[in-house]
Amino acid sequence: MRRRLAAGNWKMNGRLADLDQLAKIASAYPDPACDMLLCLPATLIHTAAARLSDTSVMVGAQDCHCAASGAHTGDISAVQLADAGARAVIVGHSERRADHSETNGTVCAKALAAHGAGLTAVICLGETLAERDAGRTLDVIGAQLAASVPEAAGAENTVIAYEPVWAIGSGRSATSDQIAQVHAFLRAGLVERFGTQTGTAIRLLYGGSVKPDNATEIFAIPEVDGALVGGASLTADDFCPILAALAAAQD
Ligand code: PGA
Repeated sequence: MRRRLAAGNWKMNGRLADLDQLAKIASAYPDPACDMLLCLPATLIHTAAARLSDTSVMVGAQDCHCAASGAHTGDISAVQLADAGARAVIVGHSERRADHSETNGTVCAKALAAHGAGLTAVICLGETLAERDAGRTLDVIGAQLAASVPEAAGAENTVIAYEPVWAIGSGRSATSDQIAQVHAFLRAGLVERFGTQTGTAIRLLYGGSVKPDNATEIFAIPEVDGALVGGASLTADDFCPILAALAAAQD
C-alpha cells in the first residue's frame, strides 16, 4: 500500500518570518497519517530543516543542478541541498521547463543527481492547454514519462507529479475524469516500464489549483496518492485542511 504524500511548493515565496507557518503545520499534525513535504526556496532550507528536525514535516527544494559541484554560478547541486537538510527536490516543474528551457533530458539528469545525493526526486510532468486541446495529452505525458524518469527510479527515490500546465496557479483544477485518465495512464506506463512491484509502488501526485475545497474530491480519484500544492501550501490555514482531507482519504 502506498503511503500518501502532501507536498507543498512555495515557489519564489517566503522569508524567514514565514517559517512560522511550517511550525503551525507541524504542531497541527504531530503524527500524521500521510507524509508531509514542503519544498522551500533555497534560502530557507537550512533553517527550516533545523527547526523541523523533531517533527514529521520534511523539507525539500525546488530544483537542483545535474552536476555535484563545479563552475555553475548561481546554481545549487543536489549534494548541497542534502547538506542543507533537504530530503527531496522537485525537478522538471513546468515553470522551470518554460522559464529555463529545461528538456526531458535535463530533467532526467537532475533526477539522477537527486538520487545520487540521497534525495527523493519529485518529477513533474504535464501538458499545456494547446496540447490538451489538440488531443495530444497522453502523447505528451507518455513522452515526458519515458524521457524524464531515470531507469533506476524506484518507489524509495522517486515520486511523479502530474501537473497540467493550464491548471497551475489558475484556480482551474483539472476535472476528476481528466485526472483519473492521466493517472491511470501513468500507472500503466510505470508498470510496463518498471514491472508490477516498482510500477505500483511509485507514488503519483496531482498538482494544479489544489485547494481546501476541492482536495477531498481529488483524493478520492483512483491512483491519486496525494498532491503537489502551490499557492495553498503557503499558509497553515490553507494547507492544514488539505492535509486533513488526505489523512481522511487514507482510511
Ligand atoms: P498551484 O501550483 O497549487 O498554485 O496551482 C501547483 C504547482 O505549481 O506545483
